[in-house]
Amino acid sequence: MTSLQLALFQQQKSKALLTQAQQAAFSYIDTISEQRVFPNSSEIEKLGIFDESLPNKTSDPALVMDLLKTIGSPNTVAQTGGRYFGFVNGNALPVTLAAKWLSDIWDQNAALDVMSPIASKLESICETWLQQLFDLPENTVAGFVSGTSIATLSGLAAARFRQLQKLGWDVNQQGLFAAPKIRLVLGKQTHGTVAKAISLLGFGQRSIEWVDCDTQGRMLVEKIPQLDNSCILVLQAGNVNSGAFDNFTEICELAKKARAWVHIDGAFGLWAKATNTFSKQTKGMQLGDSWSVDAHKTLNTPYDCGIVLCKDSEALTNALHQQGSYIQFSEKRDGLLYTPEMSKRARAVELWAAMKYLGRSGISELVEQLHIHANLFASLLAENEFQVLNDVVFNQVILRYKTEQLTQQILTLVQQSGECWCGGSIWQEQRVIRISVCSWATTEQDVRRSVKTFVAARNQVLGKQS
Ligand SMILES: Cc1ncc(COP(=O)(O)O)c(C=O)c1O
Repeated sequence: MTSLQLALFQQQKSKALLTQAQQAAFSYIDTISEQRVFPNSSEIEKLGIFDESLPNKTSDPALVMDLLKTIGSPNTVAQTGGRYFGFVNGNALPVTLAAKWLSDIWDQNAALDVMSPIASKLESICETWLQQLFDLPENTVAGFVSGTSIATLSGLAAARFRQLQKLGWDVNQQGLFAAPKIRLVLGKQTHGTVAKAISLLGFGQRSIEWVDCDTQGRMLVEKIPQLDNSCILVLQAGNVNSGAFDNFTEICELAKKARAWVHIDGAFGLWAKATNTFSKQTKGMQLGDSWSVDAHKTLNTPYDCGIVLCKDSEALTNALHQQGSYIQFSEKRDGLLYTPEMSKRARAVELWAAMKYLGRSGISELVEQLHIHANLFASLLAENEFQVLNDVVFNQVILRYKTEQLTQQILTLVQQSGECWCGGSIWQEQRVIRISVCSWATTEQDVRRSVKTFVAARNQVLGKQS
């Protein structure tokens, strides 16, 4: 045994490092609700300690962990605390963290059933539960990926395979160079990750036909060009700024008649299907061909938990197919058939844990609560002269205060406050403040406390006493 092995076996046996991690984690949890939501500049300066050259020798692993605790923890954004409203960042439910901790110890590779029967089993269960929860066609399959970016890439790869096949072209064998033209039909408010996927798939941005949107960011149905079987449409369940949902029923019917493929980007909004509250918004969502969604957003699992869903299993598995002399496929589920990557961690463990724990009613309550808090934010801020620019149909609120300049100044102060954090965006060509309520931990009190921060920032900008 080498001296390194000896040291590693000792570390494994003593569990001292895990105990150290547990203590650091527990103290983080215990202080999170009062931690600054964004670190202050003096903490950020301390990150300089990481600027060193690669060590020549092994060191004390306890010191490695200590650096993470003392410098790392204060330099996190406190998005697990209830007053973080940036991007569309969720917050891991306790049961999902616990499940992930255990699965980290298992360190499974979820590529094949023979590599991890438990990962394969839980992927199958999650696939069925998601199909049922979202009311998707019965033959829908799921691939467990890092996030919606890769889920969308996968869904569009399936679409590329199928649409080209309809035009008499096998993209796997013949490539794209002399392929028939594929038309990509996207709303002007489509999320940036879709255009990225389109580039990665070799279509080029010039194959996109951009469709005008209404004031909420929904594709205008009457502006959709004449469709045919060379078309791939991308719709949205949840506009990243306004939270708006496209008109799925009408658009999918048009697409179906033309034999066009519909992919629905439902990164955070697909979960709206889990409750009747949003039945107007989600109507017809099941009529798509493929969908992308993140469990690490609305469902509040830890990060790295995206899902591609596709009703055309053959197209998805052909698009992502893989061979190898050493690969041992099974009669059961082999996860690599449904994802671009081969090796991957067992993400379905925490997804399963979330759904098993919450059940239908818990998922529904979680989603509705985000909406209730977004509405509360909007009404309290409106009472304080902020202008709410979107219909708050889900968990997103877009705001301005009188002018772009005042809006920007208020946003800067809110971000510096450490009390809460939200981002900015551009909406209808104006700089706006953008609030996304995406954490299970946000309470009514958190919203009220955050609104006070907004009002104090507004007063400071206007030179008034708070
Ligand atoms: C509508 C939409 N699509 C795609 C994405 C990208 O998701 P991910 O960061 O998981 O790749 C987001 C992220 O917020 C989103 O809101």
